[in-house]
Amino acid sequence: MKSALIIGATGLVGRHLLEQLLHNENYGRIVTITRRPLEFSHEKLEQHVIRLDELDQHKDLFAVDIVFCTLGTTMKKAKTKEQFVKVDFDYPLVVAKLAKECEVSQFFIVTAMGANQHSPFFYNQVKGNVEAAIRELSLPTFYIIRPSLILGERDESRFGEDIGQKVTKAIPYLFKGPLERFKPNEAASIASAMLNLSLKNDIGTHIIESTLIEQYK
Ligand SMILES: NC(=O)c1ccc[n+]([C@@H]2O[C@H](COP(=O)([O-])OP(=O)(O)OC[C@H]3O[C@@H](n4cnc5c(N)ncnc54)[C@H](OP(=O)(O)O)[C@@H]3O)[C@@H](O)[C@H]2O)c1
Repeated sequence: MKSALIIGATGLVGRHLLEQLLHNENYGRIVTITRRPLEFSHEKLEQHVIRLDELDQHKDLFAVDIVFCTLGTTMKKAKTKEQFVKVDFDYPLVVAKLAKECEVSQFFIVTAMGANQHSPFFYNQVKGNVEAAIRELSLPTFYIIRPSLILGERDESRFGEDIGQKVTKAIPYLFKGPLERFKPNEAASIASAMLNLSLKNDIGTHIIESTLIEQYK
């Protein structure tokens, strides 16, 4: 039976991933690190509420087979570039370093379509930077998941995602041919793609673009 650690389990993708791992027979133990408690318990679930600035003090929680990092924020929530970088670059890098030190066999991070260190867009640059910094750690198996717009039920309303949801429903044939990669990904599909990939045990670094997410889901 596999064990996994999810960081970001209260988020849209993280919640789906947690639910799917808990119900999967290949997984026997799921550890979560969140900044607020989860609203349920489960026999396979071991949850820890921790300030991410203090992650270094919790290396013992990284004694698992697989680490999934689904952390992230938005500029609207972060308010400053520094705070955005903290959540989307600094914390994931600390998580990856701890995973490396604890000899975790697989590491997954959800970044975004268009992640690129040389992008003119700050968001894509930060996502590209975090991918590159984690690549340098040479983790045995490193999956970079790059979704398009993510759809699913949120407590909050996000303008871009609301529009994306409506457009996808109204004109499903819009995302064909060269536009296929822009087709939004359901959070549940991203989670099931990560789960399925984690069972393959493929060594190396793998980039899973939005269209591939749909193939692996
Ligand atoms: N939304 C999109 O359309 C979209 C598109 C492409 C890529 N992405 C990326 O995909 C990933 C997953 O997205 P998502 O929509 O599932 O994200 P989400 O719902 O916003 O969840 C983000 C997670 O990060 C945690 N988090 C944020 N700031 C934190 C902080 N300062 N300290 C501790 N935890 C913090 C959240 O905790 P709380 O629940 O406590 O806030 C939550 O668990 C993110 O990296 C995102 O940038 C998103």
